[in-house]
Amino acid sequence: MKTTTSKLHFYITTPIYYVTAAPHLGSLYSTLVADVIARWHTLKGDAVFFATGTDEHGQKIAQAAHAANKTPQDFTDGLISKFQDTWQLYDIEYSKFVRTTDQYHMHGAQEFVKQLIAAGDTYQAAYEGWYCTPCETFISNPKLECEPEPLCSSCDRKVSWLTEQTVFFKLSNYQNKLLDFYRANPHFITPKERFNEVISFVQDGLKDLSLSRTSVSWGIPFPDDSVHNSVIYVWVEALCNYITAIGFGKSGKEQELNRWWPADLHVLGKDIVRFHAVYWPAMLMSIGMEPPKRLLVHGWIKVNQQKMSKSIGNVIDPIQLCQTYGADAVRYFLCRQIPINQDGEFSISDLEQRISSDLANDLGNLLNRVVTFAKALNEESNIFTELPGLELADFTGTIESQSHFDRQSNKLRYLVTSIIDEIEGYMRDGMLHLALACLFKLVKATNTYYNEFEPWKLAKTDKNATSKVLAATAHALQAIGTLLWPFMPKKMEEMLSQLGTSMNVDGRNIIMELTCNRWTSPFSLKPGEQLFKKPESHKHKKQTKAIESHSEQTIKLNSTITIEDLNKVELCVGTIISSESIPNSNKLLRLMIDFGPIGIRQILSGIAPHYSPLELLGRQALFVVNLKPRKILGLESYGMMLLAQDNNGKPQLMSPILPVAPGTHLR
Ligand code: MSP
Repeated sequence: MKTTTSKLHFYITTPIYYVTAAPHLGSLYSTLVADVIARWHTLKGDAVFFATGTDEHGQKIAQAAHAANKTPQDFTDGLISKFQDTWQLYDIEYSKFVRTTDQYHMHGAQEFVKQLIAAGDTYQAAYEGWYCTPCETFISNPKLECEPEPLCSSCDRKVSWLTEQTVFFKLSNYQNKLLDFYRANPHFITPKERFNEVISFVQDGLKDLSLSRTSVSWGIPFPDDSVHNSVIYVWVEALCNYITAIGFGKSGKEQELNRWWPADLHVLGKDIVRFHAVYWPAMLMSIGMEPPKRLLVHGWIKVNQQKMSKSIGNVIDPIQLCQTYGADAVRYFLCRQIPINQDGEFSISDLEQRISSDLANDLGNLLNRVVTFAKALNEESNIFTELPGLELADFTGTIESQSHFDRQSNKLRYLVTSIIDEIEGYMRDGMLHLALACLFKLVKATNTYYNEFEPWKLAKTDKNATSKVLAATAHALQAIGTLLWPFMPKKMEEMLSQLGTSMNVDGRNIIMELTCNRWTSPFSLKPGEQLFKKPESHKHKKQTKAIESHSEQTIKLNSTITIEDLNKVELCVGTIISSESIPNSNKLLRLMIDFGPIGIRQILSGIAPHYSPLELLGRQALFVVNLKPRKILGLESYGMMLLAQDNNGKPQLMSPILPVAPGTHLR
């Protein structure tokens, strides 16, 4: 375990958001991930600086302002509070909110560009090429087949042809330096797949990067350019926010800058990796600053299999969601349900299911049972009512301190310790969904422990043993509440307060204290309200309907199945190790599939019209492996290969992008 007593500094950032409309659930997601990780480090006693903010310049904002009949500054001023209010509603505790229209940022960005020029890494030339305004990006490979209106290769929207005089950054000079840096920092980008994409992008050669724009006026004036009146390219100045937030370009702030830079973690979505992993480190190298230590790249929240975005019109309003379900339940759901390294589907029914089963049933109910039972026990023994002046309403309940526990209780204690270790590993890698899965294993184990001892029965014969069960359960709950605090700060503070403890993040390494906890302290319980209520779907039908209006269509089109139904189907990746035609059949191929630990199986597939046996050799594909065996033309088939027809009617194999171990189950 890597916990340490020395105070570490941890600087974490979110991308800064385009201010074209109020934030949606996708914007909340990046910010939430950063907040949870920042809080985790606070829990470890680290000194934490958490920067977020808004990206307010560029053509995209200017166009949105124009459409709203406002000046860009008035337009963005009017929207800022929507971001700040949403973050406050969700208990996002940032240290600094950077607006790129703030003077210190504009000055810092100009200073940054001046240093690039001083480093001899720039030159003037004409730029000619395609530009995508929604992405604010120069596009080297638009989808030209869509002419007369080529589309952006990233967002599929129209690109426009650009010809302007510009200042270039010699990015091409940084190919080897970047590759060396990646080699020396093998954990620079999580997840690994994204890192591999970046490496091959850089290996393919880099084009120089345009630093200035003459055809846009809403931006930060390019330093010393009175001739062209150009502005700094919006992405270049936006990236600078990570250093202007901590004093870059401001005299007297050098110490602060040195204290926090290089950033420990930039959190960002998969659509903006190249800017952070290629352009940003190269420019920092140019001015003699270290690149950030790590990037955590998350996937997209999707609704009906499409990225949630304003332009598609399938956005979910985080404020409405919070009003219906509460901030902490939504925080928990987003971190638990969406695997951080992949895209994840959002649905209200999944949200309600998680609240009901994980939060209300497994966690809230256990807390409630423990505090109310301990209270009832105390009432029965009338300890407090003998004290003069104490009303029954003040009655709380205590769980006495214990000096030692039996084997089973100690097992629970060791489980807490080993789970902390596991969670620490996941949190270090930003795998929030796995950390939560692990924590809820502990919640389940604590429930099992409590139920197996049946303290409500035990109390009739052995008060001492009952006290021990209550104490062990309360200690486990205290650990759970503390470890869950970064994810659900308000609810966990409430839970800890019901247990008679509190959350004091005062610079101590609370995680290490938890690991060393000897489980000796007593608890003075303060029973309170039920921690989580099961959502009463019918009560919220109206809101749910509005939020899910987009999902409804899909639900009508396809009849739904339960997770239990889905679990019945065993899906596995297998490698085709032999493939041959079958006499008397033009359709079938006889395949031998390696499923690793499951073994080698014969599977027949009707793809002979589309594939020669040879071209399938060595390929991986997805199979249903628990289908009842079937005899076709006298041959047994022990499963089914899954295929999807492409536009030309050819069945395509469902192969993983990167090879996985044969026999890997789909989850
Ligand atoms: N302004 C740039 C970032 C500059 S950082 C120096 C930008 N802004 S954005 O508003 O378009 O996106 C900000 C973040 O929100 C990105 O990390 C993006 O991936 C994330 N999300 C926007 N929609 C999203 C989803 N539907 N799901 C998850 N996150 C997504 O890019």
